[in-house]
Amino acid sequence: MSFDRSIKIAPSILSADFANFGAEIQAIEAQGADWVHVDVMDGHFVPNLTFGPPAVKAFRPHVKTFMDVHLMIAPVDPYIEAYAEAGADMITAHVEAGPHIHRTLQAIRAQGVKAGVVLNPGTPADAVADVLDLCDMVLIMTVNPGFGGQKFIHSGVEKTRKIRHMIGDRPIHIQIDGGITPETAPLVVEAGADVLVAGSAVFKGGSVDTPEVYGQNMRAIREAAEGARVKAA
Ligand code: DX5
Ligand code: ZN
Repeated sequence: MSFDRSIKIAPSILSADFANFGAEIQAIEAQGADWVHVDVMDGHFVPNLTFGPPAVKAFRPHVKTFMDVHLMIAPVDPYIEAYAEAGADMITAHVEAGPHIHRTLQAIRAQGVKAGVVLNPGTPADAVADVLDLCDMVLIMTVNPGFGGQKFIHSGVEKTRKIRHMIGDRPIHIQIDGGITPETAPLVVEAGADVLVAGSAVFKGGSVDTPEVYGQNMRAIREAAEGARVKAA
């Protein structure tokens, strides 16, 4: 994957039909998804449980674009190899999940996959300052992780601006996750984000039988986001 800062929409399959992941992934990709975002939760770091490595491995053959695996688990290090072998293209780990984020990012890259670092809403931008050179992406959470469908936390906008400034011209994506809609997407894009995760705003109102709704939902987010780029230019 070559690096660019074009707007990328990464639907979170946390909002998909859990009995039909293969068809859901195919539907969102056919309708224009750039990446597929997989939310891994352990019932410990976050109060919810989702996908182990075998589930991620089962998603892999359906993903033709880029599979971005967001680990909301603690500890992280013992599971990196398993998620890499399951087929993740990128693994993102939280700075809050363990004492050694630097070691965790090294371990992710050692598996030959791209590495992302994640900040919860309560964690300041500075927490990633000394690991940026080990990262392909910084993920800024705009909800407290654990569930889809929560309200966007606005302090993520200024944090995005700060991190964009810290990154400078290094090839590091800024991803935003939580409460992204056509209303909130322009705020974070104007501040410097390029990868937008969206669960409820992509899947709402649609199904594998009406995939065009997913397409409309993604277009609404993308158009709003690209509008913010034009305004900023
Ligand atoms: C939250 C997850 C998100 C979530 C986003 O813990 O990391 O990816 O699915 O859902 P929405 O877009 O509904 O806020
Ligand atoms: Zn996520």
